Amino acid sequence: MCGIVGYIGHREALPIVLEGLRNLEYRGYDSAGIAICDGARIRIRKRAGKVAQLAADIEGEEFPGTLGIGHTRWATHGEPTDINAHPHTDASGRIVLIHNGIIENYAVLKTRLERKGYSFRSETDTEVLAVFIGMLYERLGDFELAVRTALQEVEGTFGLAILSKDDPDCLIAARRGSPIVLGIGDSEYIVASDASAIVAHTRRVVYLRDDELAILRRDGYVTKTIGDEFIAPEIHELDFELEQIQRGNFPHFMLKEIFEQPVTFRDSIRGRLLVEQGNAKLGGLTTVADKLRVARRIILTGCGTSWHSALVGEYVIEQLARIPVEVEYASELRYRNPVIYPDDIVIGISQSGETIDTLAALREARLKGATILGIVNVVGSTIARETDAGVYLHAGPEIGVASTKAFTSQLAVLALLGLYLGRQRDLSASEGQHLAKELNTIPEHITTILDSAPTIEYIAHQYAHCTNALYLGRGVNYPVALEGALKLKEISYVHAEGYPAAEMKHGPIALIDENMPVVFIATCDDIYDKVISNIQEVRARRGRIIAIATEGDQRVAELADHVIFVPPTHSLLTPILTTIPLQLLAYYIAVARGCDVDKPRNLAKSVTVE
Ligand code: G6P
Repeated sequence: MCGIVGYIGHREALPIVLEGLRNLEYRGYDSAGIAICDGARIRIRKRAGKVAQLAADIEGEEFPGTLGIGHTRWATHGEPTDINAHPHTDASGRIVLIHNGIIENYAVLKTRLERKGYSFRSETDTEVLAVFIGMLYERLGDFELAVRTALQEVEGTFGLAILSKDDPDCLIAARRGSPIVLGIGDSEYIVASDASAIVAHTRRVVYLRDDELAILRRDGYVTKTIGDEFIAPEIHELDFELEQIQRGNFPHFMLKEIFEQPVTFRDSIRGRLLVEQGNAKLGGLTTVADKLRVARRIILTGCGTSWHSALVGEYVIEQLARIPVEVEYASELRYRNPVIYPDDIVIGISQSGETIDTLAALREARLKGATILGIVNVVGSTIARETDAGVYLHAGPEIGVASTKAFTSQLAVLALLGLYLGRQRDLSASEGQHLAKELNTIPEHITTILDSAPTIEYIAHQYAHCTNALYLGRGVNYPVALEGALKLKEISYVHAEGYPAAEMKHGPIALIDENMPVVFIATCDDIYDKVISNIQEVRARRGRIIAIATEGDQRVAELADHVIFVPPTHSLLTPILTTIPLQLLAYYIAVARGCDVDKPRNLAKSVTVE
C-alpha cells in the first residue's frame, strides 16, 4: 500500500528520496510525489503514475536541498489523479505532508475548516489533515505542537512525514496504525514506511509505535507520544541485506522469490526441526508452552494467501495434534463478536505483519482473554510486536506482490507447530520422526520441481489466452487449489476459481467445456481415487486437464492433457510441493499476457487500511 520516505541530513535529498520510492514500489501504488526543502522554499512535484514517470518529469530540473519527503499513493479517498497525489500542503503552503492510512473523521474536520473559510483542492482526507495542522500552526506558532495537537483530534490511521518551510531543520514523523521506521544514520535520518527504503543507508532502525512521533533534526532526534511524553528509542539492527531486495538476474521479483524457495524453506526450519526426536523446537513459543499444552482450541486467522496457509494449517494441526482448529478471515473475525474463550489460542498469520484486519482480529481476541500469537515474516512488524509470542518465517523480504516464498514458509512453520503440538499430545515419536524426516527433504523436492519450469512455461503458453480457469483439490490440497486460483487472478487478471474437487458437481461443472482449463491437484493419498473420479467427470465434458500428480503416476498422466509431477512426500506436506507448479503456471501465464507481474493493478503488498 502507500509508501513513505523522508530524509534529513547533509546529502542531497532528491536522489535518496527517489531511490527510496523505487524500493517501496513493490507495496503497490498508483501515484507518486516528492517535496524537497532547500531552507528557503519547498519544491513539490507529484503526479498519477509510476515513480519512473515522476523521475522523468523532473529530470534536468533543480530540486536542491538536504531535507525531503516522497510518497507513493494507493488511492482510497479520491481517484489516482495528479491533484490527489501526495504531498499535500496547508492553505499557506508552509506545511507539507505525506500520509499513509485513513483519516476517518476527515469529513467533520473538513466541514469545520470550510466554515472557517478554508478551501480544498483535492478530494483526499490527507489534504484535510494538512490544512488542519496549518490552521493550528497559525494559532499556536509552533510546528511540533501544531502536529501533536492535530493528531490528538484525528480519528483513524496514519503514518506521516511532515515538513514546515519555517523550520527547515526538522522532519516530523508520526504513526498510528500505519508503520513508520526511522533509519538512524550518521548525522542523517531516513524515515520510511518500511525498511526496504532504509537498508541501503543504515541498518540501525527505530520502529515507532502507535501514537508516537519522532522529531528529527540534523544534530539529533527525539521520540515522544503525541501527548508529549518522551520515549527512550529502542534501536534494532535490520536483519536483511540490500541484495535481498534487488532482483539480481531474474526478470521479476516473483520469479526470483519462487526460485528462492529451497533456501527460504530451509531457513524457516533451520534449528527448529529435531529430526531424531521427531519434534520441533520453536524458541518464540517457549513463554506460552504451558498454555499451548492445555489449549482446547486454536483459531487461525489471516487474509489472502496467509488465510490459505491457515486452511492448510487446520488440516495439519488437527491431524497431528487432534486439537480443534478453526480458520477465519481476519476481516470477518474482527467484526462478528466471535465466541472466544481465555483458553483459546488465536494465531494471526501474516507475511507483512501489518495487515490491519489481522491485527484488529488479534486485538479483539486479546480483549476476550485469548493467548494471541503471530506467524509473521517481517521482523519488528506490528503483529510481531503486539502478540504474546510467535514464530518468524525467516523467508527474507518478499517484494513480489503475489506472495510465494512466504506461503511455503508459513506452511513450514505450521508443520513445525503441528509437530510440536502433536508431540505435546498423542503423536508418537515414530510418526513424529517420519514427518520430521520428510520435512527435512522438502527443500530438495522443491529444487526438483523448479527444474520442470520450462515444461510449466510451455503449458502456460497453451492457456495464456483463456479467460477462465478452475482449480480443484481435495483435503489438504483444497486450500492449494484456492491459492493457485488466487495467484492466477492476482497477476494475470484471468478469472479463476478454486474449489474442493467434489463440490464441482454443485455448480462449477456447468462452466466446463473444451475451452475451460481445469487444474487438478491429484497427488497419491487416501482420497486419490476420489480425485480421479472428479478428473473423469471433467474429461467426460471435454474440459482441458492440467494435473499436478505424484512422480511416476501413469494413471493421471493418461487422463490429463498435461501433467506436472511432484516428488512423493508425507501427505500433510504435499501442499508445499503442489503449490510450486501453480505459482510458476500463474507467473508464466501473466508474463505471456504482458502483465506487470510484480506490480499487478490495484493490488497492494501490505494492506494497512480496512
Ligand atoms: C495483500 C497481498 C497478498 C497477501 C495479503 C495478506 O492482499 O497482496 O499477497 O496475501 O495482503 O497479507 P499479509 O502480509 O498479512 O500476509
